[in-house]
Amino acid sequence: MLNGQLAADNLPRAVRWEEGDLYLLDQTRLPLETCMEKQETAQQVWDSIHVLKVRGAPAIGIAGAYGLCVALKDKTGLAIDEFMAEVENQAAFLDSSRPTAVNLGWALRRMVAMAKASGITDATALYDRLVAEAVAIHEEDIGLCRAMGENGAPLITEGMGVLTHCNAGSLATSELGTATAPMYVAHSRGVNFRVYADETRPLLQGARLTSWELQQSGIDVTLLTDNMAAHIMSQGLIDLVITGTDRVAANGDVANKIGTMGVAILAKHFGIPFYVCCPSSTIDLDTAHGKDIPIEERGDDEVTSFGARRTAPEGIKVRNPAFDVTPNELVTGLITEKGIICEPYTENLRAMFG
Ligand code: MRU
Repeated sequence: MLNGQLAADNLPRAVRWEEGDLYLLDQTRLPLETCMEKQETAQQVWDSIHVLKVRGAPAIGIAGAYGLCVALKDKTGLAIDEFMAEVENQAAFLDSSRPTAVNLGWALRRMVAMAKASGITDATALYDRLVAEAVAIHEEDIGLCRAMGENGAPLITEGMGVLTHCNAGSLATSELGTATAPMYVAHSRGVNFRVYADETRPLLQGARLTSWELQQSGIDVTLLTDNMAAHIMSQGLIDLVITGTDRVAANGDVANKIGTMGVAILAKHFGIPFYVCCPSSTIDLDTAHGKDIPIEERGDDEVTSFGARRTAPEGIKVRNPAFDVTPNELVTGLITEKGIICEPYTENLRAMFG
């Protein structure tokens, strides 16, 4: 992937639509097994999103859009008003699978709005149009990631150490990822840099996914447990932090995987720039502040166990928020497909995406 060549074809694909069927890479099995799973029902897609077989904000938006097609596939014999009611019901059902990433609701609202505005009066024709819309959402994401890669790549210069948290990579999107897109583009241009990947407890997206996909791409990646970031920063090994996000509020507050805010606070302490890669599909101008973003709470077992092994006493009280909100004042810039946005976020986000 050197000398200006982006080997995008070799990156893992989280979501595939092939001959009218949806396949999801079961990310809970990575990095030990790469297994594409055919999705037969809306319930199966809901479960796949809920248990993180498919995960990452853009990828669950794409999976949700295709999931709506899966839900409607055997309903094309219905009268158009009954079919339209199914479009709305199934979209609401799929949207309930995870609350924090705005891309899921964004993609499903786009599908429903298109169906309502289409004026199509035949269920089979409308189903075909919905499939085309899901494919469009998928293909547009490829372009968004490439543009963020172009806009963010100049931040990564020769010899740098770049820290990232969770997985905002190919596995979380359609192709280059969000936080990883500047890395893939810089790498393709022959820039030598090191990536440090936080392991990201409790579900280990950094260890299982980010370190796997970057290693496969030939990028120099070092895995850290989450509590090592401060020490590694204090040694002068980190020059830049880039993360992804699940939702950016209108004031620039950033929801991302639990632990991201701690990294941002550390970056501020050590004077390290903290950038967030966010496509427009992740910007939620209808949510004024980060405190209004719904934060998913997941099951106790993710915290009381490490893999299959229990690591905490029975009956222990547990908290398991899956995301946190980094206040906008800790964010150096938002890398979007249209360019890098800095403070004042409220004005600049509205000017660019309002
Ligand atoms: O719980 P996950 O694995 O879905 O969380 C993913 C993240 O927090 C990512 O950083 C975010 O969705 C951005 S993906 C481009």
